[in-house]
Amino acid sequence: MRVLVTGGAGYIGSHTVLALLEAGREVGREVAHADGQKTGQTERQAAEPHEITIVDSFVNSSPAVLARLAELSGCEIKFHEFDLTDYQKTLELFQAEPFDAVIHFAGLKAVGESVEKPDLYYHNNIASALSVINAMLKTGVNKLVFSSSATVYGEHTPVPYKEDSGYHLEATNPYGQTKVIIERILNDAANANPGWKVALLRYFNPVGAHESGHIGEDPLGIPNNLMPYVAQVATGRREQLTVHGDDYDTKDGTGERDYLHVSDLAQGHVKALDHLEHQQEPARAYNLGTGQATSVLEMVEAFRRASGQAIPFTVGPRRAGDLATAYADPTRAATELGWRAEKTVDEMCADTWRWQSQNPKGYTP
Ligand code: UFG
Repeated sequence: MRVLVTGGAGYIGSHTVLALLEAGREVGREVAHADGQKTGQTERQAAEPHEITIVDSFVNSSPAVLARLAELSGCEIKFHEFDLTDYQKTLELFQAEPFDAVIHFAGLKAVGESVEKPDLYYHNNIASALSVINAMLKTGVNKLVFSSSATVYGEHTPVPYKEDSGYHLEATNPYGQTKVIIERILNDAANANPGWKVALLRYFNPVGAHESGHIGEDPLGIPNNLMPYVAQVATGRREQLTVHGDDYDTKDGTGERDYLHVSDLAQGHVKALDHLEHQQEPARAYNLGTGQATSVLEMVEAFRRASGQAIPFTVGPRRAGDLATAYADPTRAATELGWRAEKTVDEMCADTWRWQSQNPKGYTP
């Protein structure tokens, strides 16, 4: 398939680009091996290598990712640098390249910043999604995989979160609200346009890095999220971790989350994309998580084991807006997409450490 990956230079986008290219190659290898026997129909169908075009504005990513992706995959990856809120440029790209599908990652994602600058978040995330949708409508592209978030379940849905829990979707911050709103827009667009197929992928907590250690998470400034912060404490770039509260009603009092390896998550996109043409509903949501809850202290201990480094921490007050526990019911993705997260917390930590220790300043030389 010819796939446009928006935000393809970002953390999850870059791992997904690699997974899409590897998926094509694996199937290619299998076909070559079976040559002469002419068997393996299903594999051959899934076997089409994907052709990737990335569009990214680099507001929260680095151009250095592109060279690493080319090196790791051995593939040529087309690339365009612009902001998707520019509809004219977006449309020109769709008119110049005949895409079969889009994976839409591009968007701002810092929860705290979204509370301070809601207008920026609503404008940027929603206008760019509308640009993509309108360009798809104009050029007849009707398959889309959207990067949504478990944050859409808000604070009232009971755990484990199910896609159709019947609870009203509403996030506790503007960033999360943009995900709720874009899901709604995509549902309406898919229902209004025969032939449209949309997968709404609700991620839990992606962590880890590609096993090569060449691509990984490289947050701008002080990390907001637990894993990159812990990793920077382990390399000595930050002095110590602050645990945001230890008085929750959880196994050890600290917050519990469903961490999943970014390579498993990337694989979820490959599966969702392959499944789109078989999807019954115009738009369908899928949880991508492991179904396991791990506490902050368990994560810190796992990282200490994986890295062999001390992770000094202090306990501070709760962080505004944080939930005690959030984890997925991942049954739907397993039964409908044939996807399961496979990597353990220890692998997530080991791969994060490989990336962080080999690239202590991320992509900055
Ligand atoms: N935590 C700390 N110290 C830190 C950072 C985090 O103790 O320095 C704790 C948090 O309090 C929480 C856990 O670690 O209990 C995980 O926090 P993250 O910030 O890593 O992740 P969140 O679950 O808060 O948020 C993530 C994504 C959001 C997404 C949300 C939805 O960052 O984009 O999951 O599931 F919306």
